[in-house]
Amino acid sequence: MFIYLNLFSKMIKNDLVLRAARGEKTERTPVWLMRQAGRVLPEYRATRSRAKGFIDFVKSPDLACEVTIQPVDILGVDAAIIFSDILVIPEAMGLPYQMIESKGPWFERTIKTKADIEQLQIAGEEQLHYVLDAIKLTKTNLNDRVPLIGFAGAPWTIFAYMIEGSGSKTFSQAKKFLYTQPELSHLLLEKITRSTIHYLKAQVKSGADIIQLFDSWAGVLAPEQFYEFSLQYINKISEAIAPLAPVTVFAKDAHYAIGKIAQGGCNTIGLDWTIDPAKARAEAAGKTLQGNADPCLLYADEKTIKKEVEKMLRAFGDTKYIANLGHGLYPDIDKEKVKFFVDCIKSFKY
Ligand code: CP3
Repeated sequence: MFIYLNLFSKMIKNDLVLRAARGEKTERTPVWLMRQAGRVLPEYRATRSRAKGFIDFVKSPDLACEVTIQPVDILGVDAAIIFSDILVIPEAMGLPYQMIESKGPWFERTIKTKADIEQLQIAGEEQLHYVLDAIKLTKTNLNDRVPLIGFAGAPWTIFAYMIEGSGSKTFSQAKKFLYTQPELSHLLLEKITRSTIHYLKAQVKSGADIIQLFDSWAGVLAPEQFYEFSLQYINKISEAIAPLAPVTVFAKDAHYAIGKIAQGGCNTIGLDWTIDPAKARAEAAGKTLQGNADPCLLYADEKTIKKEVEKMLRAFGDTKYIANLGHGLYPDIDKEKVKFFVDCIKSFKY
């Protein structure tokens, strides 16, 4: 399996991200940014205006391919991440969503009963062919310049949207379901996990070189709940996917859980900005770390950005490290500052 990975990555001209994910030494620290496809780039907004709406955009492989490659050309990042959304999984299982301008996702139906869960289908390649087509097209057009990151939401975060029906500060309805219906919760998480494994295997088969799981709402759970209702399922996915491609687990605000996440089958642990690099390094059991600049740092002047970047790179060290933000870029961040951040990382020498 590792021979396969090595042969495959040799075909990619800049494979720094893949080598760092596998724990190999790199000439410099690789960098990419969560939410690099979209938001801060005027070029993204120009492409987006050619689609009828967000969902139509996500379902158009040629447009998705275009905005996936834009940050590689414009920002010079060391990886592309396929333009899509984590919410394609609930839709593929039978819960359609809308993306409401300046509000976010909204589901007209949510999960309330056992019958609702039983009616959901296990998603497969048929329902998600548009993402796989976008990956294939992007692989062709990227021409092996940098690796392509595939992704999915972690089961708990997908569960949270399926129960809540929209974004929420507390996800109290989703948490209420965990407390009042633990068995049904596991039934639903199991179904999401099975769908996600099919989906990610298909992404790798279509050309994704590395996979990231986003547990954006891990932080609303208490530690024991996180282990039982989230990490257990993340680990099932890592075990199924890591033999095919390196896996990164980003569990936002689960700072107490790095040691536990490291015991699972992932290759890289994504960190938000609340985590001290030295503490993460001590707990990560030799796994690669990714992160963890505060996205708000990019509102600062260039001198401050450079100083903080250098502090971050020194703190994480020159191996087993992929530089990134601690969460996605915010829409009002200046594109030139983003480029400056990327350039600071690429030119840094230990
Ligand atoms: O990282 C990338 O550049 C790749 C594309 C990507 C999108 N969504 C495109 C998108 C990725 C990796 C995601 C993941 C995603 N989607 C997550 C996990 C990461 C995180 O931010 O915590 C979550 C929770 C979602 C759900 C989602 N999608 C929300 C809550 C929203 C609305 C608010 C927002 O963040 O803008 C979206 C919409 C969305 N997904 C946009 C983009 C570029 C903005 C839509 C637009 O163009 O108007």
